[in-house]
Amino acid sequence: MAKTQGSYRCRECGWQTVAYVGRCGECQAWNSLEQVVTSSKSAGGPLSKRPVSAPPAATLSLVDVPDEPGRRFSTEIPELDRVLGGGIVPGSLVLVGGDPGIGKSTLMLQAAARLAAKGNRVGYVCGEESPRQVKLRASRLEIGGQGIELIPETNLDAALAAAEGLGVAALVIDSIQSVYVEGLESRSGGPAQLSEAGARLVGWSKGNEIATIVTGHVTKGGEIAGPRLLEHLVDAVLYFESAEGGSFRVLRAVKNRFGATDEVGVFEMTGQGLKSVENPSAAFLEAHDPDASGCAVTALIEGSRPLAVEVQALAVPSPLAAPRRIASGLEVSRLHLLLAVLARRGGIYAANLDVVATVSGGLRVRDPGADLAILRALASAVRDQPLDRGTAYLGEVALSGAIRPVQQAQRRLAELARLGFERCVVPSNTQPAEGIMLIPVRSVKEALSN
Ligand code: TYD
Ligand code: MG
Repeated sequence: MAKTQGSYRCRECGWQTVAYVGRCGECQAWNSLEQVVTSSKSAGGPLSKRPVSAPPAATLSLVDVPDEPGRRFSTEIPELDRVLGGGIVPGSLVLVGGDPGIGKSTLMLQAAARLAAKGNRVGYVCGEESPRQVKLRASRLEIGGQGIELIPETNLDAALAAAEGLGVAALVIDSIQSVYVEGLESRSGGPAQLSEAGARLVGWSKGNEIATIVTGHVTKGGEIAGPRLLEHLVDAVLYFESAEGGSFRVLRAVKNRFGATDEVGVFEMTGQGLKSVENPSAAFLEAHDPDASGCAVTALIEGSRPLAVEVQALAVPSPLAAPRRIASGLEVSRLHLLLAVLARRGGIYAANLDVVATVSGGLRVRDPGADLAILRALASAVRDQPLDRGTAYLGEVALSGAIRPVQQAQRRLAELARLGFERCVVPSNTQPAEGIMLIPVRSVKEALSN
């Protein structure tokens, strides 16, 4: 039999799987899998012309479907609950991805401990670390371990059977790359293993009503064979972001069937694990030095809340023929674009300068409303002139040099006013806001003189 990719069915019991395995996962028969033929040639005529032969599927009226998810349980970690959409839903499968060392295992152990403290039994599959290593981390986090059942197993089916036997309410699998599905001719963490493990986990968590969280490492480039393969299968995908060397960790929901996407949770990595940051804007601006050149403050909308951040830029004469452009927390292509607009529309040239731009807090800024702050920070860095203290910047910058309106300007302005900013340079036609004076501008030229 050809052991190629496709769909396979056991001729003994009808069990199906996406990849070839030597032994049936249901009836355990050896070499009983046959490839399911979907090719139109071998099945007699085009698919669309074949008569319908399957028995009718069961249906139900939408009104009779219960209003789920009504029950959620809180992880008692406020920022994690926020990103999950108010807590974790029984029977859901959540993927927590991020670079190695960012704090996934730490967050999982903390969440497991909080859930266990409320009387839930929590299973923890430690495929990556030994129970001793987990214990070391727990001691550092001052977690006793009552109610947390370690499952030191890398065979996924064996781990799931153990979890079922324990009667857990929630299960953590740390990490998806470290577990394997027996019989697959592929290494752990490989594409075939990940898809099969993901498919099994979806069925298992739904079937048993067990909230399941899996962690997964992603490389900087978001490695194609990594957890991204699982994104379409799982109910929620949360990614950890951080600035290199910084202690803030931002957890972002890139997908959530039970809550808002793009919601962010902000944590700080401390000596005793991850702490929820209650006032992220203030924390991000803590080191803000209004007297330094190249610094501009703006407010972003991340999920359901406004967050103030500082953009910092530095420009120095370059010894290179092609000067460097380094961006952290924003796309380097956006830096190139705004430098081009600054040159053509503002007459400020950085052609022979090395330019570095960063964003405070470790947030990756995608919100176009931050354009004007980045542009002003760059101009301030090139001229080496600090900006007016107490002034913040909001606005999208068009290639034409026009300053375009931003979404939810009022909420951003309220956040800036709350933080004590007195003035804000804004796109013209922005409605007045309480507690902050607006300086409307229409173009880059106007913005540069304010
Ligand atoms: P970890 O949760 O093991 O990362 P991941 O599972 O994503 O690979 O976190 C590892 C880092 O966090 C490591 O560099 C040590 C640091 N750390 C702290 O700073 N404080 C703590 O309390 C803990 C447990 C870890
Ligand atoms: Mg880990």
